[in-house]
Amino acid sequence: MEKKYLHLVVIGHIDHGKSSILGRLFYDTDNVPKAVMERIRKTAKILGKEGFEFAFVMDQIKEERARGITIGLAHKKLVTEKHSITFADAPGHRDFIKNMLTGASESNAAILVVAADEGIQSQTKQHLFLTKMLGVPRVAVALNKMDLVDYSQERFKQLKEMIEQLVERVGYNKLDVPIIPCSALEGENVVKRGNKMSWYKGQTLLEHIENLPEVTPPSNLALRLPVQDIYTIEGIPVVIGRIVTGVVKLDDKVRVWPSGREYSVERIYIQDKEVEAGEPGDNLYLYLKGLKQGEIKRGDMITLHNDKPTFATRFKAYVFIINHPTGIVPGYKTRFEMLTESTPCIINALLNKIDTTTGAIVEESPSQLQDKEAALVEIATSKPVYIEPQQHFSNLANFRLIEDDTRVGMGICVEVIE
Ligand code: GTP
Ligand code: MG
Repeated sequence: MEKKYLHLVVIGHIDHGKSSILGRLFYDTDNVPKAVMERIRKTAKILGKEGFEFAFVMDQIKEERARGITIGLAHKKLVTEKHSITFADAPGHRDFIKNMLTGASESNAAILVVAADEGIQSQTKQHLFLTKMLGVPRVAVALNKMDLVDYSQERFKQLKEMIEQLVERVGYNKLDVPIIPCSALEGENVVKRGNKMSWYKGQTLLEHIENLPEVTPPSNLALRLPVQDIYTIEGIPVVIGRIVTGVVKLDDKVRVWPSGREYSVERIYIQDKEVEAGEPGDNLYLYLKGLKQGEIKRGDMITLHNDKPTFATRFKAYVFIINHPTGIVPGYKTRFEMLTESTPCIINALLNKIDTTTGAIVEESPSQLQDKEAALVEIATSKPVYIEPQQHFSNLANFRLIEDDTRVGMGICVEVIE
């Protein structure tokens, strides 16, 4: 049977139990051997971090364990009979928000962790809003630490109402967002259904994850294959690239842009294996019939012959500044990067500054955008780039702003101007 693939990101306020929930999930599905768990428990005790043992399953870096927080973006794969699920454990600390954004930008669903004692906090709101902004289609809420509120149904009801309001405000439909009361520490409703919340009749967290609907595979979309590199093998140019959307098959007629020249697909390799077709995510070696040296270069785009990619030199985008000490102003020059593209760009105008916890416009035509702020902006690139509005091709909308090899901003295209 073919497995269902999912990428899930776990988000939420600092210390609400994101890493612990994942640790519990892996432990209770027998993916952490007892002996290993025992060793982790001892390490936690030595570090004076008792209670952090489940978090330590995910937090493996020395500094993370010493401080009891997540810093990086840890990935861990859970393979069940029907699924292959890659979890990304995001840090809640606001200094490491760029790692959370990376996690969200590569995921097709999110689990928002909210601690039942503290309830909704600043990063709860911000993470949820940014996740929505990045186009993550599904979200579920794990209402964790229910043990600290005596598994109270009253508290659950109260928080559920507040969370539903938040969820609706950022643009999700509350009917699509289950709220699951659980305790990572005691293992309630993560994998096992204990007897402490008999009032709760819904799914456990694992059941919810296993029942997530299949995300529309980007293979249904038009072919977009950005060219990463050209190798010459026995005098013949071979195209290297990773499919973003769509499918390419043997004998397909394709076009290489910006030249618009047409070729047919002669041979396809994935690693060393010759195949008949490639799908989204596949890294390919492509032989195009009649392709000559110099007719194709890194940064070009391959589509099917009856199609044309969007080229843009000016577009509107939401930009979130993640690492810029002085902030940016209209006319700010930087570097635009996405997929295989890297080119100078200029922020022509700051249109609306938005509140990153609600999405509400807080200022029109602001004169500056500070670190950790977001705005709708107009960007112009020094040459045409293949970018599409998020509504059309979410996989081709995300980009980065780079200065001196540092990522200063993340962006999402929403409208192409020219
Ligand atoms: P960051 O990654 O730093 O944002 O934190 P986190 O959300 O991953 O939280 P983490 O899993 O590190 O847990 C933080 C603290 O909450 C630890 O002391 C855990 O033992 C505790 N904790 C986590 N889940 C529960 C729970 O269900 N009940 C109780 N009582 N404590 C919990
Ligand atoms: Mg963590």
